[in-house]
Amino acid sequence: MTDEARGDAPEEESSVVLDERVSVATAAEMRNLGQRLAALFRAGDLVVLSGPLGAGKTTLAQGIGAGLGVRGQVTSPTFVIARIHPSLRGGPDLVHADAYRLGSRAEVDDLDLDTDLATAVTVVEWGAGLVEDLADSVLTVSIEAGSPPAEAEEAAEGTRVLRVRGFGDRWRQPPAVAAAHRALTEQ
Ligand SMILES: Nc1ncnc2c1ncn2[C@@H]1O[C@H](COP(=O)(O)OP(=O)(O)O)[C@@H](O)[C@H]1O
Ligand SMILES: [Mg+2]
Repeated sequence: MTDEARGDAPEEESSVVLDERVSVATAAEMRNLGQRLAALFRAGDLVVLSGPLGAGKTTLAQGIGAGLGVRGQVTSPTFVIARIHPSLRGGPDLVHADAYRLGSRAEVDDLDLDTDLATAVTVVEWGAGLVEDLADSVLTVSIEAGSPPAEAEEAAEGTRVLRVRGFGDRWRQPPAVAAAHRALTEQ
């Protein structure tokens, strides 16, 4: 994806930009946020989650899965790197992928994420810098641990600060930006 398509070029056709920060106090709130975001998502959407181990990426993905109404438990994959969760209600499926163990774009290509992209909401943990160009538009969520910071493995209960940014045409449409704003600020 070019800088221009990503929306971070200084001169934009539309001045509407999705770039919001939100605090999330608990894991339950993180799941609720995922559910509210899911209501905005449609087939073809690509969502990239970043943040350290234990930040809450999988927890957010679980909320997205619940909101989409998909089959199966969204988990931290041990061996399975990408998993498709079919919709139980005729909506988009959820493809949940974890790129933690992937080192290169070639390995990403081996996942064939693009096969299901058009019919699914694709959520990729650790995908930053690897998968954005699979779609024309991407929603990125970077999760910063609050204070105290989450330690690897034993994640601390505590506030996370999320930065949610939209890139590409999809997230430059005023109704999409407004809906995202509502989803992020509602309790
Ligand atoms: N505010 C919060 N948001 C998300 N998770 C939280 C929060 N506070 C504590 N947690 C806990 O942190 C852990 C996050 O783990 P997980 O979602 O698997 O992280 P990641 O996928 O980023 O490695 C879970 O055990 C969750 O219960
Ligand atoms: Mg995870």
